[in-house]
Amino acid sequence: MRRKIIAGNWKMYKTNSEALNLVKKLNIRLKKKPAKKSQVVIFPPFTALSSISQELKKSKIQVGAQNLFWETEGAYTGEISAAMIKSTGAKWVLIGHSERRQYFKEEEKVINRKIKLALQNKLKVILCVGETLELRQQNLTKDIILNQVEWGLKGLKPVHLQDLVIAYEPVWAIGTGKTATPNQAQEIHNFLREILDALVGGDMGQKMTLLYGGSVKPENAAGLFSQPDIDGALVGGACLDPVSFSKIIEAGEKTF
Ligand code: PGA
Repeated sequence: MRRKIIAGNWKMYKTNSEALNLVKKLNIRLKKKPAKKSQVVIFPPFTALSSISQELKKSKIQVGAQNLFWETEGAYTGEISAAMIKSTGAKWVLIGHSERRQYFKEEEKVINRKIKLALQNKLKVILCVGETLELRQQNLTKDIILNQVEWGLKGLKPVHLQDLVIAYEPVWAIGTGKTATPNQAQEIHNFLREILDALVGGDMGQKMTLLYGGSVKPENAAGLFSQPDIDGALVGGACLDPVSFSKIIEAGEKTF
């Protein structure tokens, strides 16, 4: 169940033609140097999901959405359902990203509903957790992470967790160029495994895939990937450049 994953969160970048262009370049690089040890997953904007899934039909790169709505369907203008995401060919969804928590006031309850709906619809989930700088300075990092994971997993059975990955993304490291040191990241990943053992049991702490996110770049990827409890990365800025993203994937090939 535990495996290596390198994921790229495109955020609100790339029109349809730009998206196709980027994915074609990435695909060419990965054909030359395939990712044998890790699964590559990209999270383009909703508008590009269908065309990118189509483009990647014969590729091993998988596709996911950056968000979904917490109801199955209905009068929710502007929202996108799990079934709609699935119909594009996407297999994954990001839930609880700190930008959703910050700008769209997504709370733990909503995040938990989204996770349940995604899993019911057979979408694989990357749940993002992480502390702000303020909370870290107050020594509350572990408290907030415990709370986020407890809420995220509420009502889930161990069997559901095989489709769930957790990404530890310290908010102070996202888009800031200030990455957590490998030791800082390792400490929290190890803590996550302890939490999972305590909350779920069944050796879930060792079975779950845990990613690090926050200013991952080709220069710091290997240091992070060599930590025993880090199974890969959720990459933002650097995944918009096919050269940087493939270098991060290569760092995984060398380190995992
Ligand atoms: P970053 O973003 O790599 O640009 O810091 C990571 C993320 O938001 O998932």
